[in-house]
Amino acid sequence: MNVGVLGSGEVGTILAAGFQAHGHNVMVGTRTPAKLNDWAKQNAKVQIGTFAEAAQFGELIVLAVKGSAAPEALRAATAKNLSGKPVIDATNPITDAAPTNGVLGFFTSLEQSSMERLQREFADVRFVKAFNSVGSTCMVNPKFKGGKPTMFICGNDEAAKKIVSDVLDQFGWETADMGKAEAARAIEPLCLLWCIPGFLHDDWVHAFKLLT
Ligand SMILES: NC(=O)c1ccc[n+]([C@@H]2O[C@H](COP(=O)([O-])OP(=O)(O)OC[C@H]3O[C@@H](n4cnc5c(N)ncnc54)[C@H](OP(=O)(O)O)[C@@H]3O)[C@@H](O)[C@H]2O)c1
Repeated sequence: MNVGVLGSGEVGTILAAGFQAHGHNVMVGTRTPAKLNDWAKQNAKVQIGTFAEAAQFGELIVLAVKGSAAPEALRAATAKNLSGKPVIDATNPITDAAPTNGVLGFFTSLEQSSMERLQREFADVRFVKAFNSVGSTCMVNPKFKGGKPTMFICGNDEAAKKIVSDVLDQFGWETADMGKAEAARAIEPLCLLWCIPGFLHDDWVHAFKLLT
């Protein structure tokens, strides 16, 4: 697949390298391509472009920007370039405030998630929440003593979720589909839970597993 990754931070670069390593063609989109000059030398097969160029390039899009900037980044990518495409939403609506006893703040409420807001503005985009509930270093080919971790996903489009669940399978995850976009109200806060052992005990290597 051609994958357009919107975002040049830890998540964007790790997922871009992961998609490339798993045989996909990748373009990373950023406002400032020059900031990736060193990274690009080590990842020579990955193309670098603007948000709009990466969105146009991708059959599958990954949204990996600062949560508060997600609408702005999608507008820069343009509705036309995103129209009808599956978009993996890896973002979290974290505020800039310091955590309180290890708990980060959100600028959304439990009545409306960030992904629902994005879905409302970009109505024909096929958003799938995924990769938001684990640290970037564990996203691709995770190895845990406890076995294969679970990625919780949700979204309104079944075909888009199948594409994402195939990617997760390729990256070494099992998928738990939690249903429609409203389930992002529960999946986004998993990032708060995931981060607590990090802030309290400097433990940043773990993932969730759904036992049945
Ligand atoms: N770090 C993790 O382990 C982790 C794990 C799960 C989920 N997440 C979520 O994944 C997302 C990315 O996290 P990150 O740690 O990789 O990096 P980040 O620092 O949260 O985001 C960096 C990206 O945000 C873009 N950005 C910032 N302000 C912008 C604006 N005003 N307009 C457009 N774009 C803007 C930057 O654009 P430029 O490229 O132009 O600089 C850059 O691509 C976040 O929503 C985060 O909550 C992070």
